[in-house]
Amino acid sequence: MIIRAAKSIRGSPAMPGDKSISHRAAMIAALAEGHSRVANFSTSADCAATLSCLQQLGVEITRAGSNEVLIQGVGTDGLRAPNAPLDCGNSGTTMRLLAGILAGQPFKSTLTGDKSLRSRPLQRIIEPLTMMGARVSADAGCAPLTIAGRSPLQAISYELLVASAQVKSSILLAGLNANGRTEITEDFITRDHTERMLRWFEVPVETTEGARENSRTSAVSGPARLAARDISVPGDISSAGYFIAAAALLPDSSIEITNVGINPTRTLYLKQLHAWGFDVEISNQRDEGNEPVGTIQAQSSRGKLVANSGTPISLRSSLVPQLIDELPLLAVVGSQIEGGIEIRDAAELRVKESDRIAATAANLRAMGAEVEEFTDGLRAAGPVKLRGASIDPRGDHRIAMAFAVAGLIAEGETEIKDADCVAVSFPEFFDLLESAVKR
Ligand code: S3P
Repeated sequence: MIIRAAKSIRGSPAMPGDKSISHRAAMIAALAEGHSRVANFSTSADCAATLSCLQQLGVEITRAGSNEVLIQGVGTDGLRAPNAPLDCGNSGTTMRLLAGILAGQPFKSTLTGDKSLRSRPLQRIIEPLTMMGARVSADAGCAPLTIAGRSPLQAISYELLVASAQVKSSILLAGLNANGRTEITEDFITRDHTERMLRWFEVPVETTEGARENSRTSAVSGPARLAARDISVPGDISSAGYFIAAAALLPDSSIEITNVGINPTRTLYLKQLHAWGFDVEISNQRDEGNEPVGTIQAQSSRGKLVANSGTPISLRSSLVPQLIDELPLLAVVGSQIEGGIEIRDAAELRVKESDRIAATAANLRAMGAEVEEFTDGLRAAGPVKLRGASIDPRGDHRIAMAFAVAGLIAEGETEIKDADCVAVSFPEFFDLLESAVKR
C-alpha cells in the first residue's frame, strides 16, 4: 500500500464494531440459554476466528444482514468436543478467553494459531486454569495448547501477575463452570468488557476497589446460568484512534466518529491527547448493552500543543495497560511533539502480535526519527519531520495502521509492505482513510 502525504483529513468514518467486545459477545452468547442477536459485530479476522472456533464446538451461528450475527446459545455445559484443533488465527483474545471456557468442559480440546500466535506466552493462563483443576499443556509455554477440561472446576482466588484483561477474562469465564466464588485481583486497571458483558447476560459480577491505588477485585460465582440477550456492539475506539491522530496532526482537519465505545478503561488515549493540548472531545454519551458509547471529535491541533520545555512526555507504570494497543500510534504522535515521548514499563509490547517495541523503533528510524530502544520501551525525539519510507509492519495490523498515519504527515511516499494484515482488526481501514484524506 502506498501512502502519500496528505493536506488534510475530514469526515465521519463509521467504525466497525469493537473487537474486544465482539469476542466477548460471541463467546458469552454461546454459553447462554437461547438465541442472541449481536448487531454491529466486528468485521475483523480475529473475531471471525472466534466464531469459527465456536461453530467447531457445536454452536449454531448464522450471519444475518450487515454485520449481524445470530447465536444459538448452548448453555455453560452444552459445548461439544471438537474433532480437530481450534484455529485461533492471529487472535490472542480468542485463544486466551476460549481456554478459560474450555477448562470447564468435560472433554479434551486443542487451541492453535498462526506463527505469531504460536510464539506468544500462555503460562499466564496455564497457571490459574491448572489451579482450577484443568489439565493444560503447551510446548515451552506456547500454542498449540491442549486442555483436558474438568467439570466442575474448583473456584480460586488469584492475583494477576501480568496486567492483562485477557488473563482476567480467561479466569472469569472459567469461573462460570466452577463450584463457588472465583476472585481475581489486579494491581492495574485493564479493560472490563468481560465483567460488563457477563452482567448484561444476567450473571452477577462483583467488583471491589482494593486498598492499593488502582487495585481491584472481580468475582463471579459458579456454576452460573446465562440468559440470552441481544446486543449492539459499539464502534471500536482503538480503530478510531488512527483517524483521531491523523486529524489532530494534519492541518485544516476535522473528524467526527459517532457510536463509538468510550468505556473508561479504553479512553486514556483520548485523555492523554487532550492533556497534551490536542483538540479531542467526547459528546453525546449514553449506555448501550452495558457499555458507554458516544461521539468523538478531533480537529487539527498542531498550534495548540502544550510546550513541555524539551522533556519527553512520559508514559509508564499504571498508564501502560490502559494504552496498550495505542502505544505504537502514540510513539508516532510523540515524535511530532516538542521533547518527544518516552514509553517505559511496557515490556508486554514485545509479546503482542509482533515485538511492537522493535517494530515501532525500526520503522520510526526508517522515517528519519531518532529513537532509543529499551528492554521495556522506547524514547523518540520530537518534533521531527518524518520522511516517506518502506515500512515493514512484521505482519502486525497495529504497526501497519500507525505507520499509515505517519505516512500521511511525512514528506514523500510511504510504502506499507504486507498491508493486508490490517484485516486482523480493521479490514476497511485503507478504504476509509483514502475516502477521508484530501491531497
Ligand atoms: C485485549 C486485551 C489486551 C489487548 C488486546 C485485546 C482483550 O491484551 O492488547 O488487543 O480483548 O482483552 P492483554 O490484556 O493481554 O494485554
